[in-house]
This record gives sequence, structure tokens and C-alpha cells, in this order.
Amino acid sequence: MSVSWALPFDKEIRIKSNKEIDINTYKKIHEASITDVKSFWSSVATELDWFKPWERVLDDSNPPFYKWFVGGELNASYLSVDRHARGWRKNKVALIWEGEPLDNNGNPKEVRKLTYQDLYREVNRVAYLMKERYKLKKGDTIAIYLPMIPELPIFMLAAARLGVVFTVVFSGFSSDALANRINDAEAKLLITADGGWRKGKIVELKNIADKSLEKTPSVRHVIVVRRTGAKVNMVEGRDEYYDDVMKDVPLNTYVEPERVKSEDPLYILYTSGTTGKPKGIVHDTGGYMTLLHATMKWVFDIRDEDVYWCTADIGWVTGHSYIVFGPLMEGATEVMYEGALDYPKPDRWVSIIERYGVSVLYTSPTAIRSFMKYGDSWIKSHDTSSVRLMHSVGEPINPEAWEWFWKLVGREEIPFGSTWWMTETGGIMISHLPGLYLIPLKPGTNGMPLPGIQADVVDDNGNPAKPETRGYLVIKQPWPGMPLTIYKDPERYVNVYWSKFPNMFYAGDYAVKDDDGYFWVLGRADEVIKVAGHRLGTYELESALIEHPAVAEAAVIGVPDPIKGEVPYGFIILRQGYSPSPQLTQEILKTVREKVGPIAVIDKVFFVGKLPKTRSGKIMRRVVRAVITNSQVGDITTLEDEASVDEIRKAYEEFK
Ligand code: WTA
Repeated sequence: MSVSWALPFDKEIRIKSNKEIDINTYKKIHEASITDVKSFWSSVATELDWFKPWERVLDDSNPPFYKWFVGGELNASYLSVDRHARGWRKNKVALIWEGEPLDNNGNPKEVRKLTYQDLYREVNRVAYLMKERYKLKKGDTIAIYLPMIPELPIFMLAAARLGVVFTVVFSGFSSDALANRINDAEAKLLITADGGWRKGKIVELKNIADKSLEKTPSVRHVIVVRRTGAKVNMVEGRDEYYDDVMKDVPLNTYVEPERVKSEDPLYILYTSGTTGKPKGIVHDTGGYMTLLHATMKWVFDIRDEDVYWCTADIGWVTGHSYIVFGPLMEGATEVMYEGALDYPKPDRWVSIIERYGVSVLYTSPTAIRSFMKYGDSWIKSHDTSSVRLMHSVGEPINPEAWEWFWKLVGREEIPFGSTWWMTETGGIMISHLPGLYLIPLKPGTNGMPLPGIQADVVDDNGNPAKPETRGYLVIKQPWPGMPLTIYKDPERYVNVYWSKFPNMFYAGDYAVKDDDGYFWVLGRADEVIKVAGHRLGTYELESALIEHPAVAEAAVIGVPDPIKGEVPYGFIILRQGYSPSPQLTQEILKTVREKVGPIAVIDKVFFVGKLPKTRSGKIMRRVVRAVITNSQVGDITTLEDEASVDEIRKAYEEFK
């Protein structure tokens, strides 16, 4: 658990809003919405354009494999692009993209603006390519490993147009991680780039992908987008440059959007869990798009005059939902950027706000805390007065960071929330709703469950936890946007999410409800670590550590960090014949980087002789964490060897 501050339960902030209501009124509205979730969500879903209306709102005959809007047909690409390109939004800018590098004054050298018509044209052309050249059809899977360039959403939308299921792999993952995902998804096509820019360096995506491709038999073709111009290895008959294959596709190409069933999968996104390899979370089409539509309106209050900016990477779920499908389906104008928020200077992000007049901002606590570290002057030297609404996501936001950001960018007058959700939920579940009703803000809270979402905090027995007592976050009724399953592993889907408490979705987070009923999500209750908001599993990191020949056993834990929320520490038992040295540490860290990717940075490595284990040999990470965070070690009677606790303590003391 990464929270170390006291919750300021009583601090209520009221801001001027014509949507303002008190919490008790909201509770009544919410209560009414969850008495019949079927009719509630059905009325929301009618606001989408369906090719064919559904026959049943919810098929709950085989829990927990729920199906929403059964019998309905629609297409996510049609909703996101065609509707706008064929109507009055035709020449409205959909995407403002700015790349790295920037010039010495911090101005971008490359800006691309795509109108809805431009986007429509490109999506159709790429869909044509996939269909005619690569012979992809509904139900096939493809993998996308691209930097943050417009081609990334274009390929996602083109796949969705054909009913082709895509899996996007974050560009900070390694060749092994990419290969595992491609193989699990059995992707036939891989789309990558000759590289991408990040902090002045080129991320060599094609070179990394080449290593993966040595062990991914399902991939028949690779499309390479030219971004940096770096020379890369092209395999004859397999690899083709994007611009080469697009040359002959006419500008006015039209590919009819596939009429996909509501419960047909839109994408698979791999995410870390408690144990084992990353899980392929499968999202449907109808339920997912319905939740995105609702949240874009309620949470972001999105309007045509807005310039919306979500600072996440499309490689994570936040980008899938709130850069690609959510804002585009609403016909919004949005900003997308390549590179980093604080490079070449700490004010890159504020200059983006100023340059494009961003009015709705969605960012992360880690970003906010790093801005805070750089100091106020970087912000004050830019005009951020266009911002009228903000939210954060990915991890708990500490009240100090919330207040600082709300004062400086929020001018102490605009709504600012912390939206709780996860890869599995598809979209936002607990949040403030400035577009619908606004209850008073509290620095650091997540607010209340959305209408139609029955979330709760329960104790060990699954009973509602007492107010202001820590419990587990659960969702008690099915919701649109929920997973269909874990790809090729339905049993695991049941075990991980639906077995801890009967008939409840177990999120894996600790949470508290305060006396007023506000939700405060505190952090993970399991072995998942959120490093700078990025979700990593201890298992993945430990497996990578023991790949190094010197490592016999390893335990990884998440430790609170003032900027990143949490950072991983690794505890290692060396094999006979090896002894600790700074050089060995570097080598071991390199192995982790190679196995998982550059995002997997283990902050500290400790060499120990023993690790706390149960008698059955399970490493007790909770004990390691308690020693390091100086908290109650708790019950250690099941420990095989209590001396292991002292070992950890000693190693840590020496380091301090
Ligand atoms: C954490 C990201 C507190 C939580 C959308 C969850 C949060 C995990 C918040 C999911 C928030 C996300 N406050 N904690 N506002 N938002 N989390 O799958 O621990 O990358 O379980 O999805 O992030 O991470 P994921």
C-alpha cells in the first residue's frame, strides 16, 4: 500500500457550479440508478448510433461472463470517425499532434493537425490495406507497437473498423514482453516504427521488435512506420514500410465498417496481476463504448468548444479509453504528444496547454508531483487560464499535491477530481462528475461511484466495512465496460476477480469510505506495484531478476516514493560462487531492463542470505515490506526462519 498520509476527511471545498448538489442528494440519485442497472444503462446506450438495436440489455445467465446489449450491432470506428466526418464536424480538428524534438525555445518542430475528415480518410485507407493486402478479417488479431504518433490511433480505429482485434504493447516494454503478448494473442500482423523520440533519444522499436519476431511464429507481416528515419533491418517478404504500401491506396477509399456484435471483442490489453504472466483483458464493443460515452459527458463534461488533453500513453488503458475511443466518439478536439512532459525543459507540458488552449486536462499524480518538485515558476511563466476542468488518474493523489495543483493551475475555482478505475473496468468507475452533478470536492478523494455503478468497500468477510475503516474495493453489479474474460483463460478470470467474495468483482485495491460516504482508494492490496502510475507485477520483475545467472532467489516489493508513488526494491539471494558488487548490481538491473523493458527500473537492490518464507516456501513479501516501511511486521508465526527478518533489516540499515 503506497499511502502514507492522513486523509483530510473533513476538508470540504465548494466551487461555483450550476451542477452543484450536496452528497445526500447525490446518494439518492445514485441509489435510484442502481436499483435497476439494466434500464439505467439501456437509456445511456440509446445515445450511441447502433446499426441494430439490442434485444436484451444484459445476458446474466452465465455469471461472471456477462454480456451487454445482446443482439445489438455497432462499430467503434464508425462511432469515432464516420459520424463526425460525414456531418458538420467534418473540418473540425480531431487530433493536434506535436512531436519531439523541440527547438531550443521549446517550440515543436513538427505539428500535425488532423480533421475528422483526415482521420476518416486515413482510417479507411489503413482498413483497406489490412483487408486487401494482409487479408485480415473479423476476429483475427494484430499487435501494435508504436510510439505516440497519429498512426497509433489510426491503426486501432482501422482494426476496429474490420472487427479485427488489436493488442497495443506499450513502447517501454522489451522484446520479451512484446513476444509474450504477440504469442498469447496469436497476432498475424505487427505494426511498429523505425523508432520514436523520447527525451532526445530514439527508442529503437523495430530493433527491439526484430528480437521478438524470432520467436513469434504467428506474425506473417510487419508494417514499419517511418518516424525517425533510422536505418532498420527489413526482412524481405515479411517487413514493409507503411508509406510504401500506402502509396497505391487511393485517398477516397471507403471500407464499410463491419457490423460487429455488441459482445464482440474490440481489443485485448495485457496487464499485470498478482501472480503469473500478464493477463490479456478482453473488452467488448457495445458495453465499453457505452461507458466511455457516459464518462466523457459526466466526468469530462466534454463540449465542442473544448480542447481536451489526456497526458497518458496510448499503450496503457487510459490512452485506449481516454485518448482514442472516448474523446473521438464524442467528436472532441484533442491534443496528443510524443516524448515527455518535462523535456527539453520542465515547462513542456504548460507550453502545450498554452499553445493549444487546452481546456480539459487529464493527468497523473506522478506528473503533478514532479511538476511540484520543479517549482511554481515554470508554470507561472505560461498562461494556463484556458483550463476549466481537470482530473488525475492512475494512483492515489496526496492532498498536498492536489492542493498545490488546484491553486496553481485550477485557480482555486475549477473542478479537479481523482478518477478511480482500472484496465479491467474499461472506463471510470468512481469520480467527481462535473458534467452531471457536482458534490463538494475534498483534496485527494475519488468522490463517489458513478450512477449505474454499485461500488463498495467491504471487510474480510465481504460485509460492508465500517466508515473510515480500511477494506477492499468491490463492484457489486455488472457494468458496461467490464471485461469479457481473460484471453484464453476464463478460469483465471473467475479466480482472480470473482472468487474472493461471492458475486462481487474484486478490484484488488484497499479503500476507505469516509463518514460522508466519499470513497478514498488507498492503493493495491496485492503484489501489483504502481510505479509512476504504470502497473507492474512483482512476479514479472522477480522472474526477470532470476534470469540473471547469479541470482538464486528474488523478492520484489513496492516502497513509497515521494514522486513516483511507489518504486520497486529487489531483495536477492545470490548463487554459490557469486558475491555482491556494484558491477553485479548493474548487470542484474540490465537483465531486468532487457526482460521487461526500460520502464522496469528497480530502484534498489539488496543482497541477503535469506528471504522470509512460509514453511511451504512462499516468499512473504508483506514481511519484507513491513521491515522496509518500518511498520508492524504482523503475524510471523508461519515463517520458516525468523532470522530472515533480521537479515532484511540489516541489509536495509546498512544501505540507509
Ligand atoms: C490504481 C489505470 C487511486 C488502483 C486506469 C488500480 C488509482 C490501478 C486511481 C489500476 C485513483 C487508478 N486513485 N488509485 N484515482 N486510479 N488507481 O490498470 O490501484 O493501469 O487498481 O488502470 O491503479 O491500474 P491500471
